[in-house]
Amino acid sequence: MINIAIIASGSGSNAENIIKYFQNSSQVNVKAVYCNNPKAFIFQRLVKYGIEVQLITKEGFYENSTFIDSLGQNKIDFIILAGFLWLIPTQLINAYPNKIINIHPALLPKYGGKGMYGNHVHAAVLNNRELETGITIHLVNENYDEGEILFQAKCSIIPEDSLEKIAEKVHNLEYEHFPRIIEQVVLKTI
Ligand code: GAR
Repeated sequence: MINIAIIASGSGSNAENIIKYFQNSSQVNVKAVYCNNPKAFIFQRLVKYGIEVQLITKEGFYENSTFIDSLGQNKIDFIILAGFLWLIPTQLINAYPNKIINIHPALLPKYGGKGMYGNHVHAAVLNNRELETGITIHLVNENYDEGEILFQAKCSIIPEDSLEKIAEKVHNLEYEHFPRIIEQVVLKTI
């Protein structure tokens, strides 16, 4: 069994979608879920799955080994960033080389980098009158949104699309593809 940990900062709809996808899997187990924002909706969202979301503190993430120790205790093989907004520290990347996977709500390398997350990305896409946007699933390195790209999917934008509509289209792509790509990466079929 491959154990994965999901790390999130917000609503957790991708986390929930991944949990549902692997619920009956005999190969991949969502072993732990972590969040750095005590006010995030993910804490309520996952109650019905009997999953206790664990809070990450800045100290435990950047200054001491609390977080890495917790991953070790849970025998985590891969880390999935599902709307996680903190930069991943070098010691975590070294502990999980090529085993940290992020989803970004745009077609990288466009619309990436610090401060480019969630609706900030969609607002920039809308302002620039892009005709398409999409998702990027990539490995994580020390820089925001710069690791090796594993998968991208696109959707078109029409002039009438609002920010909310663009966000909805992108979220739908995330729900459709992210769990499947995670499965392929952790089972080494891509
Ligand atoms: C997702 O759209 C994800 O792509 C994005 O945050 C959202 C989280 O939604 N991630 C980033 O912007 C990372 N730079 P969710 O909490 O409902 O899954």
